[in-house]
Amino acid sequence: MHKRKTAIYPGTFDPITNGHCDIIRRGLKLFDRVIVAIATDGSKNPLFTVEERLEMLRETLKDMPNVEIDCFDGLLVDYVVKREADTILRGLRAVSDFEYEFQMALMNRKLNKNVQTVFLMTGLRWIFISSSIIKEAAQFGGETRGMVPDVVRNKLNEKFGKTR
Ligand code: COA
Repeated sequence: MHKRKTAIYPGTFDPITNGHCDIIRRGLKLFDRVIVAIATDGSKNPLFTVEERLEMLRETLKDMPNVEIDCFDGLLVDYVVKREADTILRGLRAVSDFEYEFQMALMNRKLNKNVQTVFLMTGLRWIFISSSIIKEAAQFGGETRGMVPDVVRNKLNEKFGKTR
């Protein structure tokens, strides 16, 4: 019997960007199901609450079949096991991501050797995008159209009081 292959795509998603969407879409070509999992106790100081991030993910991914949205705290590898999966999906942008991702993948493998990390190269169009740079641009009134889903753009404008 064909085993249903699930990948966990973890992140802070503060907020989700088009770069993340690209990885999810391409992940679905490799896996039967992708669980997008918000880390709720990360060291980052998020702009959006978990509830807001969940809402933006739900709206953005609502038409994608085989995508589930969830939250987790504690160790990622424990969450992967809890969800009966064995694969972590991550996007790699430029060289700058490599060291951090390499370290994280090795640590996760040390913690649980049965959990594998699969990397997809981020689409060239999104290589310069990060959640932080989007927030910074939005904070000072910069336009984020085309870099984040519309629901995120609206939420950012709302947060930073931009009405136009
Ligand atoms: N295109 C554009 N940008 C992308 C991207 C893509 N394809 N993929 C990631 N990014 C950006 C994000 O926007 C984000 O930018 P920011 O740092 O400016 O906010 C950054 O790259 C990484 O964010 P994200 O993908 O949301 O992941 P993260 O690095 O915040 O997530 C966890 C880290 C949650 C996976 C990790 O901390 C974790 O597993 N925590 C649980 C505890 C644990 O088990 N730790 C590891 C072992 S000790």
